[in-house]
Amino acid sequence: MARRAPAFVCQNCGAVYGRWQGKCESCGEWNTIAEESAAADVTAAAPGRPGRKGRPFKLEPLAGETHEAPRHPSRIAELDRVTGGGFVRGSVLLVGGDPGIGKSTLLIQAAAAIAKTGERAVYISGEEAVAQVRLRAERLGLSRAEVELAAETSVEDIIATLSQGKTPRLVVIDSIQTMWTDSVESAPGTVTQVRGSAQMLIRFAKRSGTAVILVGHVTKDGQIAGPRVVEHMVDAVLSFEGEGAHQFRILRAVKNRFGPTDEIGVFEMTGGGLREVTNPSELFLSERDLGAPGTAVFAGIEGTRPVLVEIQALVAPTTLGTPRRAVVGWDQSRLSMVLAVLEAHCGVKLSGHDVYLNVAGGLRIQEPAADLAAAAALVSSLTNAPLPADAVYFGEVSLSGVVRPVAQAAARLKEAQKLGFARAVLPESARGEAGEPGIALSTVDNLASLVADIAARGPGRSPAKLRRQEA
Ligand code: TYD
Ligand code: MG
Repeated sequence: MARRAPAFVCQNCGAVYGRWQGKCESCGEWNTIAEESAAADVTAAAPGRPGRKGRPFKLEPLAGETHEAPRHPSRIAELDRVTGGGFVRGSVLLVGGDPGIGKSTLLIQAAAAIAKTGERAVYISGEEAVAQVRLRAERLGLSRAEVELAAETSVEDIIATLSQGKTPRLVVIDSIQTMWTDSVESAPGTVTQVRGSAQMLIRFAKRSGTAVILVGHVTKDGQIAGPRVVEHMVDAVLSFEGEGAHQFRILRAVKNRFGPTDEIGVFEMTGGGLREVTNPSELFLSERDLGAPGTAVFAGIEGTRPVLVEIQALVAPTTLGTPRRAVVGWDQSRLSMVLAVLEAHCGVKLSGHDVYLNVAGGLRIQEPAADLAAAAALVSSLTNAPLPADAVYFGEVSLSGVVRPVAQAAARLKEAQKLGFARAVLPESARGEAGEPGIALSTVDNLASLVADIAARGPGRSPAKLRRQEA
């Protein structure tokens, strides 16, 4: 018989304990452990079927015919790029993101796009009333789209409804945290309920061939709330990111069984919904403060696409015992490394300075190739020497201070040239790979020579000088 003993489940990571405790040992969160009924967990072994004899099945050889996963493109190019060419039949996608970032907006637009191809698209909201969803669709100019709507939260009812009539091509469940199933006794929103509901919807997707999109909320530290376990159950996890203050939104694949995980889709939130941004560089560079010290343009690569973005640094004398190191949009430990290399090999003393680094536009850079641009911005801010406004930077910095080559130099240079940049500062060894670029190349083989170059440019318009000019 099934155990009726209570179980204590961490609502953050899903770890199960025999008794209550204040801190989850698995994820380190406090006060996340809540009592749930263990027997009702659908993931536990099915009770009441002891000793069932197994049925032998046929094993297949690895070699054999394969078919390309049948896909349904949404024709929203930025979305299709991230999914790997469209929604795969029978697959389940989890879309995570902060509240208010635009998940519902993106997905109603996707549902409308699928409906436009003549296929059945269903949008189930567990958070908003049908009238609210309609209101949003009206604002998006989609009120004529043939998307079927419902405000429902019972998974059994949803699956029963969806199983009638023509098989839907796409079903959006907004959000998985509001769903509940009868097969689980816990309250809606608990890990057990979310997992149980997700499992039933996944089974429905596989059985019917419908592509199902689950919306998942994100906790304050950026993880999909509660059901980390759901991330393992679904075929793809997309995260929808952006800075509240910026209109840019970035869709990124965190996991994808049917496509790439390094592509990004860039959108702009407008009064009429999400608009695709086909040339992100132009957007990220649109509000540059030309001639100000502490900014460098990084020629990066996101997936297969070059993206130019401004890196801003502020280095200021500290008033604290321990100087501050703050980063937005880049890796904190990479900043520490670049600072250490500047101190150790370039004679740049930063221990008495607060350092702030920001990637403009809300983009999050993961490439080590940004090292050189970050270092240039930092030194420029420290020496108050503006960098040339028509230059881009890329290159990885090693612990010894050597500037190392990075992949796809030619693509980076081409994008820079396209956007009107006249020169690139890049690793010595990238020159051969660059081919015949239409822009001037200045190569650096180590960080110390870059620092010397920037320092030699001398201070630009200092605040004091500006003030004097104004007077
Ligand atoms: P929403 O899709 O409801 O976010 P989520 O589902 O991720 O919580 O988007 C809400 C925000 O988007 C809200 O602050 C208003 C803004 N928005 C626009 O700026 N333009 C629009 O056309 C729409 C529909 C929303
Ligand atoms: Mg929403």
